[in-house]
Amino acid sequence: MTESDNPIFQIADRAAALRATGVDVITLAAGEPDLPTATHIVDAAVDAARDPRNHRYGPAGGLPALRSRIADDGHPDHITADNVQVTVGTKHALHLALNALTSPRDDVLVLRPSWPGHLGAVDSVGATAVQVDVDQDGLASTTALEAARTPRTRAVVIANPSNPSGVLHERGLLADLAAWCVDHDIWLISDEVYGGLTFDTHRFSASNVVTDPSRLIVVDGVSKVHAMTGWRVGWLIGPTHVVANARRQVSATITHVSTIPQHAALAALSTPTAVHATTIEGYRTARDLLVGRLNTIPGVECPTPAGGMFAFPDIRELLDDRHPSSASLASRLLEDAHVAVVPSEVFNAEGRLRISFAVAHERLSHAAERLVRALTEGPT
Ligand SMILES: Cc1ncc(COP(=O)(O)O)c(C=O)c1O
Repeated sequence: MTESDNPIFQIADRAAALRATGVDVITLAAGEPDLPTATHIVDAAVDAARDPRNHRYGPAGGLPALRSRIADDGHPDHITADNVQVTVGTKHALHLALNALTSPRDDVLVLRPSWPGHLGAVDSVGATAVQVDVDQDGLASTTALEAARTPRTRAVVIANPSNPSGVLHERGLLADLAAWCVDHDIWLISDEVYGGLTFDTHRFSASNVVTDPSRLIVVDGVSKVHAMTGWRVGWLIGPTHVVANARRQVSATITHVSTIPQHAALAALSTPTAVHATTIEGYRTARDLLVGRLNTIPGVECPTPAGGMFAFPDIRELLDDRHPSSASLASRLLEDAHVAVVPSEVFNAEGRLRISFAVAHERLSHAAERLVRALTEGPT
């Protein structure tokens, strides 16, 4: 899938086109914070750019200091720099992992609602994505995975917290899913790019909950938590044979991730805890504002997301002959209320909207009022 095929980017493009005509459109569609990257991170990149040592080739695996910092960042002691490959964002880590672990005839189980990037990553290695519906609480279960399992099933991909729903698979459930994977010789690929954005529990990685790490890959990156989507730094953590495979792929293609953004990522991972806590507080306030306002709308039921940057309200009761789908309702919200949101069809699910709260509070508040007005007044 190219970026122009990406349905989320297409919505952002429509919003931008409307804005170009002078309309004040508020975009709650993108999966990225509207904040600039923090100054201490930008400064680290500027310093790195001035250092001639960074004007030369670097190691294929990534900077040793960054790999060590990643390994120490909330992972158990058995994870070391040898278990880490630095990648061009989390998406690249997904691709490398799937390329290392699957063959073209293999199936990969992906939870539905499905983030299109997971389907795209499976497609990019020629394997087949098999979508597995989550339960009414948005969670995967071993029963649902078992029903989808065939001899070709090679991996399961789970984003924790989820995009689009913000649902968090807690430690016990994650441990059960991981054990099921080990029992069936299936890889668990835990996408933790929103892992640093949990509001009611402390951050935890699947690496801390599995009893047998031999079938676990963690993919993660600085994009979301540190407002660094454009810097393109992520990583893959796994058994050394998978990391070695990923390293060979990197070496044979891009040589290594650009060194200067790696220095920025190192500074990001060294962000003081108090600064990070303030960021989380800001997200929690935004989440509560948006979810609170959405739940005042008759016919809208919005669960409180445990993590990530999206609300995922159920709007089925608002659908009617004029607006029979989430997609048509989202179009109306863009045209009439000038708020861009993502319809759940993008995630292969019906009757919901994905609404980002990763925008400045004042702007979010305006957007929420527009949504309340438009959806309370009914179709125009
Ligand atoms: C679940 C999930 N994983 C991965 C990514 C991509 O992250 P990155 O920018 O690090 O490639 C996204 C971005 O939207 C995402 O939602």
